Amino acid sequence: MVTTSGWCLFSRATFPVLLLPLFLACLQPASSVQFDVRDEKNESCILADLAVNFSVTYDAGNTSRLARFELPKETRLLNSSSCGKENVSDPLLEIGFEAGHKMKISFTKNSSKYRVDELTFTYNLSDALLFPNASEKGGPKVVTSQKTGIEADMNTTYRCINQNIIHMGNVNATFYNIKIQAYPTTSNFSVKETPCSEDVTPTTVPATTLPPPVPAPTSAPKSGKYQVNGTNYTCILADMGLQLNITYLNVINKTNVLLFNVDPQNVTVSGNCTVTSAILTLTFEKTSLTFMFRKNDTTHKFYLGGVDVNTTLPPDAKVPAYKAANESIMYLQTTLGKSYMCKTMQVLNITDTFSVNVFNVQVQAFNIDGNNFGTEEECRMDEDSILVPIIVGAALAGLVLIVLIAYLIGRKRSHAGYQTI
Ligand SMILES: *[C@@H]1O[C@H](CO)[C@@H](O)[C@H](O)[C@H]1NC(C)=O
Ligand SMILES: *[C@@H]1O[C@H](CO)[C@@H](O)[C@H](O)[C@H]1NC(C)=O
Ligand SMILES: *[C@@H]1O[C@H](CO)[C@@H](O)[C@H](O)[C@H]1NC(C)=O
Ligand SMILES: *[C@@H]1O[C@H](CO)[C@@H](O)[C@H](O)[C@H]1NC(C)=O
Ligand SMILES: *[C@@H]1O[C@H](CO)[C@@H](O)[C@H](O)[C@H]1NC(C)=O
Ligand SMILES: *[C@@H]1O[C@H](CO)[C@@H](O)[C@H](O)[C@H]1NC(C)=O
Ligand SMILES: *[C@@H]1O[C@H](CO)[C@@H](O)[C@H](O)[C@H]1NC(C)=O
Ligand SMILES: *[C@@H]1O[C@H](CO)[C@@H](O)[C@H](O)[C@H]1NC(C)=O
Ligand SMILES: *[C@@H]1O[C@H](CO)[C@@H](O)[C@H](O)[C@H]1NC(C)=O
Ligand SMILES: *[C@@H]1O[C@H](CO)[C@@H](O)[C@H](O)[C@H]1NC(C)=O
Ligand SMILES: *[C@@H]1O[C@H](CO)[C@@H](O)[C@H](O)[C@H]1NC(C)=O
Ligand SMILES: *[C@@H]1O[C@H](CO)[C@@H](O)[C@H](O)[C@H]1NC(C)=O
Repeated sequence: MVTTSGWCLFSRATFPVLLLPLFLACLQPASSVQFDVRDEKNESCILADLAVNFSVTYDAGNTSRLARFELPKETRLLNSSSCGKENVSDPLLEIGFEAGHKMKISFTKNSSKYRVDELTFTYNLSDALLFPNASEKGGPKVVTSQKTGIEADMNTTYRCINQNIIHMGNVNATFYNIKIQAYPTTSNFSVKETPCSEDVTPTTVPATTLPPPVPAPTSAPKSGKYQVNGTNYTCILADMGLQLNITYLNVINKTNVLLFNVDPQNVTVSGNCTVTSAILTLTFEKTSLTFMFRKNDTTHKFYLGGVDVNTTLPPDAKVPAYKAANESIMYLQTTLGKSYMCKTMQVLNITDTFSVNVFNVQVQAFNIDGNNFGTEEECRMDEDSILVPIIVGAALAGLVLIVLIAYLIGRKRSHAGYQTI
């Protein structure tokens, strides 16, 4: 992708300062500027085609301002550029523009690669054209970076079409559509190129190496009847459909949701009863799921006070073993001796990553008379769902009544009107 920019080019060389109309200050962006550093034998040691956008924050009175400009076409190669001495010093590209602004790029190499060792940008805040109202007029300001990411194989051209933003304190230098070759073998760029990382499309993890997540069930879970017996009595009776919802991280750190229905046919029921707690454990395949009911003799209520799960996640999970527990919840609260009933699906949030969706539930713990549910206590959602048609019906009836009354009054008035004539 070739990025173009609409940034402003301030060029003093082109326009006399006093006559510079503001609208002329914004020109089409310059294409890249070419540089060729040669040694005393007239052999190239650095070739560069550069396009750079600079953004600089600076103080202007009490505020901080942002200057944006690009490397102008008129940028010159400075005499301080050099090819260095074999094994003693490294090649250096130094370029300058306008009122003493300079950019310095030094290179280094090993047997197989060359790279930019350091990038230095020197700017002059007294340049009122680039830095209007700058409060600091002192000497030149210098920023540097040793992390340019500009690196290529020897005898190849470094090529980068996409933006490479180099951060240097309060200056960002955005390189784009550039070609650089240090230590070239001729005076021309090598045909062989090393593309920058910004241009290389990221190699995605092949789909085949990642096991697919388990598909979500398409239907509601089947209802199961579960019973827990004390020594000579029943302490839990439940009739419900269960669906477990577990959020987990997969091997590439992506969040996945495992949603599965509990199949009552494959469930082994166990549990136990004490005076204060009644426990129901469902075990199936790789999962054990425990519901702990508690009671409160002060309020004469029982409730689901804890849920605990232990399972194995699908093969795409980063960590296969999964456990979650919360023993300070209070769901399905009901008067002792009665049963909790809810036809509407209910979400029981257990932890951040685990919830149980309960479908069409009727449950009772403690104080069970024989093997039968006590009187039902319907959940709020069911009452609301019954209430809605009642409210709508009542509202409709009210409306009809109002219209009827209005009609009757209207008729009576017009009747009276005739009589006065
Ligand atoms: C160096 O070589 C270039 C051509 O590659 C030529 O134009 C230039 O005049 C040469 N400079 C000197 C000082 O020989
Ligand atoms: C430089 O880039 C960083 C990150 O994109 C941004 O937060 C900062 O404001 C930029 N600075 C300038 C001077 O543009
Ligand atoms: C680069 O090219 C030069 C001259 O062709 C050769 O001597 C050198 O071994 C090459 N370097 C690499 C790393 O291929
Ligand atoms: C509890 O007793 C009933 C019969 O009274 C029996 O069907 C059921 O399997 C028992 N439950 C457990 C968990 O033992
Ligand atoms: C269970 O048996 C004990 C004694 O074995 C008795 O005290 C208790 O009342 C019985 N409970 C029920 C519900 O029958
Ligand atoms: C499962 O849990 C996640 C996270 O809490 C939630 O976003 C999602 O809606 C749940 N899915 C179902 C079907 O309950
Ligand atoms: C996933 O995240 C952990 C910690 O956040 C990190 O150590 C690990 O390298 C990451 N794995 C992948 C494949 O991104
Ligand atoms: C029940 O469990 C067995 C083995 O544990 C498994 O092969 C079977 O598919 C399960 N049935 C259902 C309906 O999940
Ligand atoms: C009751 O069940 C729980 C969980 O399954 C277990 O930890 C506990 O030991 C059991 N208590 C008795 C008395 O069997
Ligand atoms: C029973 O409920 C009352 C009132 O909500 C509360 O103060 C008390 O702590 C509860 N007792 C138990 C054992 O949960
Ligand atoms: C959880 O399940 C694993 C494997 O099924 C088992 O080894 C482990 O003992 C279980 N832990 C608990 C606390 O039930
Ligand atoms: C469960 O969590 C979801 C979102 O995380 C929330 O919308 C819902 O009201 C919670 N349910 C209960 C019973 O707290």
